[in-house]
Amino acid sequence: MRHLISPLDFTVEELDTLMDLASDIEAHPEKYAHACAGKKLATLFYEPSTRTRLSHEAAMLNLGGQVLGFSSADSSSAAKGESVADTIRMISCYADICAIRHPKEGAPLVAAMHASIPVINAGDGGHQHPTQTLTDLLTIRSLKGRLSDLTIGLCGDLKFGRTVHSLIHALSRYTGIRFVLISPEELRLPSYVRDDVLKKKGIPYEEVASLDDAMPKLDILYMTRVQKERFFNEEDYVRMKDFYILDNEKMKAAKPDMLVLHPLPRVNEIAVEVDSDPRAAYFRQVQYGVYIRMALILTLLEVKVC
Ligand code: NCD
Repeated sequence: MRHLISPLDFTVEELDTLMDLASDIEAHPEKYAHACAGKKLATLFYEPSTRTRLSHEAAMLNLGGQVLGFSSADSSSAAKGESVADTIRMISCYADICAIRHPKEGAPLVAAMHASIPVINAGDGGHQHPTQTLTDLLTIRSLKGRLSDLTIGLCGDLKFGRTVHSLIHALSRYTGIRFVLISPEELRLPSYVRDDVLKKKGIPYEEVASLDDAMPKLDILYMTRVQKERFFNEEDYVRMKDFYILDNEKMKAAKPDMLVLHPLPRVNEIAVEVDSDPRAAYFRQVQYGVYIRMALILTLLEVKVC
C-alpha cells in the first residue's frame, strides 16, 4: 500500500505519470465521474484549512466517491486525548483513503505507520505539504510547458512555510533549476533544507532580501504568507507581516511571461490589483489542485480508468 507523506515518495517518472493523468482528467472529466463510486475519503484536519480540505473533498466527489471527516481538533476525540495512531486505526474501518493535516511535524507519517488505508499528508506543521507541491508542479508544467530550466523566486516566510520546503525538495530533481530565496533575515530557509537539499545537490541559489532586485531574473515568483500561527510572539509577526507586498509597480520589472504563484490564503503580500495581471496564476493554481488530487486518489487507490 502506498502513502504520500513526502514530495519525494514518487519518482520523477511517477510524477510525470500522475501529471499526465491529471491533464487527462482536465480534458475529459466525464470519463472519471464514477471511477470511485462506493469509495470513501476521510479528511482529518487538526489545523485550519479551506482549500486543502475542500479540494480533497471536491476531488473525491468529482470521482463519484463520498467524503467524511472533521475540520478541527476541537471537534474530534483529539480534544479528549486520543492519539493519532488510535484515530487512524479506527478511520481505517470507516474509509478507503484519508488526508490528514496536523500541527505536529511527522504526525501523518505516524498515521501511515498505523493505517491500513493510504494516507495523504495534507500538511504537517512547518515541515511538508506534498499535495500543494503536486499542485504547484502541475501548474508550472501546464502553464510553462516544462519543469526544467527555470529560475524560481521563493518570497516571504521561507522559515515556516512548509509549501516552500516541499517545493524545493521536488524541484531539485529537475535540471537547470535555480532558486532565488527572497526573505527577511529572520525568515530565511532552515539550514536542513538549504544544506541538505540545495548545497548537497549543488543547486544554484542565492539568498536576498530585495524583491525588486530579484524580479527581472525570475521565470516563476512563488509568494507566501508570513505564517502567523508558527510565531512565538505577536510582535515579531507584526514586524514581519508586510515586509513584501507585490503590486503592479513591482510587476513592471518582471519578465512578460513570469508567473506569480501563491499556495493561498493571501493576506497582504499580493495586492488585489495584481489579480487582473495575466501573469497572476494563483487562482488557476487552485483548479489544478483539484485535478492533481483526483489523480492522486485514483493512483493511491489503484483505480484504473480506460
Ligand atoms: C498553505 C499551508 O497550509 O501551508 N495553504 C494551503 O494549503 N494552500 C499555505 C499557507 O497557509 O500559508
